[in-house]
Amino acid sequence: DALEQQLADLQDFQVIAHRGASGYAPEHTWPAYEKAREMGADYLELDLHMSADGKLMVIHDDTLDRTTDGEGKVKDHTLEELKALDAGSWFNQAHPEQADDAYAGAEMLTLDEVIDRYGTDVRYYIETKSPERYPELQRALVETLEAEGLVESGSVVIQSFSQDSLQQVHALNADIPLVQLVWYYPEEDGDGLAEWTGVTPDPAEISDADFQDIADYAVGIGPNVTYEGEDVIDASFVEQAHANGLLVHPYTINDPEQMQRLLDWGVDGMFTNFPDRLKEVVE
Ligand code: G3P
Ligand code: CA
Repeated sequence: DALEQQLADLQDFQVIAHRGASGYAPEHTWPAYEKAREMGADYLELDLHMSADGKLMVIHDDTLDRTTDGEGKVKDHTLEELKALDAGSWFNQAHPEQADDAYAGAEMLTLDEVIDRYGTDVRYYIETKSPERYPELQRALVETLEAEGLVESGSVVIQSFSQDSLQQVHALNADIPLVQLVWYYPEEDGDGLAEWTGVTPDPAEISDADFQDIADYAVGIGPNVTYEGEDVIDASFVEQAHANGLLVHPYTINDPEQMQRLLDWGVDGMFTNFPDRLKEVVE
């Protein structure tokens, strides 16, 4: 069936359009998603927060300040307030070389709007952000996906840095393919990762048991690749993940040389702001 087809397709290399084709247009707006589709991305990556009135909103940060003309927390604003914001003009100022007058005034989107527009024409790679801040988010998300038939049609992967969030989703619907995000950084910089994921902060020390803990509920792992210019994973990390039945989808890879290096390591997909570049390297 369609869900089995999705799992089979995940064995092939996946181009994941990070916040849409966000290197070319303001992240999480229609222009960024349209470009990602034109470029033939396999998945649209979406980050979710919730409005004050409980709507699932597609935005990366928990605050409005960077990517809109609003300020303060997403969760302190109603849907109506959020829809009135300009989520495009910041991009023209930040990226004059990619600026386009058509981006000015681009709206923040709800998950419902994105699903209404694309239905099962695209696959969605949805991240639950700050789930501890939105205890209702997992249930609201799974209910939406089920109501739209997007789980059985094999249209969705859910990803999170929060193991708790993924396990909540898994308990609500065990058919949804899940990816555990991890953020590796040198140990002296803190000890947050162990708390977040149950994975040791030093990827060189990650054990089969750690990978198996993730494989209990997830189909893959999504690691960063470098920290301050230094590699934090290597080819053997990818090999060990594979040996434990996990796909590896590193984020966020925009440089073609880095793309090629990771392809050589055998990764199963990448998050990129430039899906056309990644397609070119893959082909
Ligand atoms: O979801 C993969 C990658 O997007 C995680 O980092 O901060 O860009 O959501 P972030
Ligand atoms: Ca993300």
